[in-house]
Amino acid sequence: MQIIKNIEEIQALREKMEGSVGFVPTMGALHQGHLTLIQRARTENDRVVVSIFVNPTQFLPGEDLDKYPRREEADRKICELAGVDVLFMPDIETMYHGDEVKLKAPAYLGYVLEGNRRPGHFDGVVQVVMKLFNIVQPTRAYFGKKDAQQLRILQKMVEDFFMPLEIVPVDTVREEDGLALSSRNIYLKPEERKRALSISRSLKRASRLIMAGETDADAIEMAMKDIMKEIDVEYIAIVDRDFRPLRKVEIKKTIILVAARVGATRLIDNIWI
Ligand code: PAF
Repeated sequence: MQIIKNIEEIQALREKMEGSVGFVPTMGALHQGHLTLIQRARTENDRVVVSIFVNPTQFLPGEDLDKYPRREEADRKICELAGVDVLFMPDIETMYHGDEVKLKAPAYLGYVLEGNRRPGHFDGVVQVVMKLFNIVQPTRAYFGKKDAQQLRILQKMVEDFFMPLEIVPVDTVREEDGLALSSRNIYLKPEERKRALSISRSLKRASRLIMAGETDADAIEMAMKDIMKEIDVEYIAIVDRDFRPLRKVEIKKTIILVAARVGATRLIDNIWI
């Protein structure tokens, strides 16, 4: 595995790569969820590139940029073992130049739900992912469905800018007890982790209700709230694939999303119906 820190080197390497290139952009602190993205990229492409860059522009003032978990050594080993060909680990000065041309997330999709709670977050995501795509020029890029809104915005970016690559959505990976994997789970104290399980339990409940024939969004939301009584729910949203609210659940067209705080940790999760 080659570890590259600067743009010229990775671009030179990319030029020499033959066949398809699968790309997994990450912010490090790699877990089984990232590994699943890497494995999928490995099976579908001739070469695999992973980037690790904790992108400052997607963190709001007061968010956890400084204490975002950084585990360079462990991350390198994981990538090596997973058969990654190139690990791109730029520093901030390599990626950003000061007063820059700026991209903006779509006015609706970028500013509802997560975008409403974290205004400007998705602007930072599109800014950095556009840069990464331009540097790596992947054939396919892999993103987890857990960050459903990010995934949809990046699909839109690729469509809107006619970019020649495929975005591949990958199912959320869960612990055995249902907790969706996230780099932020390490912040949870044991008692908080137990309470956090109510998020995935509420989503399971929603899915069971729907399988039993319930379509009313309010009824589903009420049942979910009931399960998450012991955590601080920020939102439950029942939306279509473009994040427009739905009053009635439609099979193969609906996403149910939850954001909640458990102690000081903010968690998100969802299911695709
Ligand atoms: O999902 C993430 O880890 C980040 O938002 C991403 C896509 C790597 C951009 O910094």
